[in-house]
Amino acid sequence: MCGIVGCVLKNKEVAPILFDSISKLEYRGYDSIGLATGHNNKINLKKDAGKVAEVDAKLDLKDLDGTYGIAHVRWATHGDPSKVNSHPHLNNDGTIAVVHNGIIENYLSIKKELESEGYDFVSDTDTEVIPNLIDKYMKTGLDLTQAVRKVINVIEGAYALAAISVSEPNRIVATRKDSPLIVGIGEEEYFIASDSPAILKYTNNIAYLEKDELVILDEDGVSFLDENDNLIGKDVEVIQWSPDMAEKEGFPHFMIKEINEQSTTIRNTLNEKDNVQFIVDEIKEDINKVLFVACGTSYHASLTGKYLIESLAEIQTEVLLASEFKYSASSLNEKTLVIFISQSGETADTLKALDIANKSSKTLAIVNVRGSSATRRADYTIYTQAGPEIGVAATKTYIGQLVAIYLLASLLGDNENLIEKLYDVPRYIEEVLAKEDIIKHFSNKFKKLSKVPKYIKPILSMPHAYKGLKNNFRHVEDMFFIGRGYSYSIALEGALKLKEISYIHAEAYAGGELKHGPIALIDDDVPVVVLAPPGRDHRKIMSNLEEVKARGASIIGIGAIGDEDLISKSDYNFLINSEVDELIAPLVYIVPLQLLSYYVSVARNLNPDKPKNLAKCVTVE
Ligand code: AGP
Ligand code: GLU
Repeated sequence: MCGIVGCVLKNKEVAPILFDSISKLEYRGYDSIGLATGHNNKINLKKDAGKVAEVDAKLDLKDLDGTYGIAHVRWATHGDPSKVNSHPHLNNDGTIAVVHNGIIENYLSIKKELESEGYDFVSDTDTEVIPNLIDKYMKTGLDLTQAVRKVINVIEGAYALAAISVSEPNRIVATRKDSPLIVGIGEEEYFIASDSPAILKYTNNIAYLEKDELVILDEDGVSFLDENDNLIGKDVEVIQWSPDMAEKEGFPHFMIKEINEQSTTIRNTLNEKDNVQFIVDEIKEDINKVLFVACGTSYHASLTGKYLIESLAEIQTEVLLASEFKYSASSLNEKTLVIFISQSGETADTLKALDIANKSSKTLAIVNVRGSSATRRADYTIYTQAGPEIGVAATKTYIGQLVAIYLLASLLGDNENLIEKLYDVPRYIEEVLAKEDIIKHFSNKFKKLSKVPKYIKPILSMPHAYKGLKNNFRHVEDMFFIGRGYSYSIALEGALKLKEISYIHAEAYAGGELKHGPIALIDDDVPVVVLAPPGRDHRKIMSNLEEVKARGASIIGIGAIGDEDLISKSDYNFLINSEVDELIAPLVYIVPLQLLSYYVSVARNLNPDKPKNLAKCVTVE
């Protein structure tokens, strides 16, 4: 969570580039934004709480003199989103500026000590101790690089941080531990950033910083120091992602653009087949158990993985939430393959679990972001070839994860037929997208009335005025999603999407589980999405549909074209190519649910790309 950028230029104003770069990271944090540049022995600072565009309209963030500077978009952990808590933070003299992503766990004791030495604090953040510590060490005669080293020997927790000081013009010193940071090496343009979309427009040459290494950007180049302060060389990777990939390209939001990119993601991730085959050949004889570990959407992809690997390869498979992993880690051994699924490859819970698993087991990371921490820590990596995903709600990377898992399970189980089928999936998705208007139209029923027309006021003042009206979902605040087998994980992912970006409370249940309690919540105010692809479980899910229908629920059926039973029993339906059976349903049936959450969010006047309280990547436990 939160994004940082730093840039040093030769004889060129930095603020417009810094602003452009940090804007590309808004998906990582959007409660505040700030920029600091160095110029003529002075730090220029502009920052405030609010979205990038709002703060820019107020402060004109591109208007700051200087050729070097740092910037930040915040996802608050310590202190509310406010101007004083926004980054960059300064030392008391205003000569040093710092941006930070992460949490300084021992900041209170450091703060106390600094206060006793006469330092004043203006914010509630943990970060503000850093510029003041740098100041304290520089006053003992250390230079900025030495002072930053000393700071990271004192602070505990997670950080990616960058500092500038007016006493060392045109220089940025940056470092990281447990939060991501990349270094971009352009022509007379040098960057640090939390993620590549920030800098793709300026350079594709990227180096990755390891824990507690320092990078020093000057107008003439970049140097790296290892944890013992030895000057080191670094491999520079030329990444293939193009700058347009981080643009909306005519779509109103990143999320809908990314939903539309899913068939391309599938084709690209299928190209990982040889890599997956290589991994399978290496490990197959040595494992007797698979354990998936992940969070959120990646966890839902893992659940599909369990069903697939158990049925295709007959290997016992478990799934754990990364944050719960440590409580079960003792059952691991060298015959367990532990698979970590993570779009970002930087999720703190997942990385913690990966470190534990590495001690006893073989580890495989299924990751989207090249060079991210998970890829460097796991024994094997499969990349989901989705390109940068900017929308906070995962869509195309989920599809990429599923394709990687389908490849893995098919190759572990020698099932070439299934792989053949995967090549048809992009076509099925295109068919769904071609009918998105059906979902858009339906989603408009969730629109809340902004102004209540006079003539319906008396009705509205009656309690639950809208309730029970089958064709009106304006009042809906709760929904259920049900599925069985492979479709259960689709239900979970569909419900998560709706919760995240529409703020509608959504529960997903295995169809058979509903009668064991949650059915008590069903009435005519609770729409139920029923996932009913053709296959073994179809009859059973239809019985579950009947159960909720009998309690008054409006039924939104998602099933195959020609499924007359579903069509007749649903109040609304969305129909998918009947060649899509329950085995490959997760790859296709999720798409109408992504569209539903997107268009409901838009209908309710929300911003689907930036849901409240969330950030794209959660780098704290
Ligand atoms: C997905 O829509 C969410 N934003 C979230 O659940 C996400 O999947 C989770 O935080 C895991 O992230 P990761 O895949 O980068 O590890
Ligand atoms: N802990 C810092 C703050 O609250 C940084 C937050 C972050 O990494 O998102 O300002």
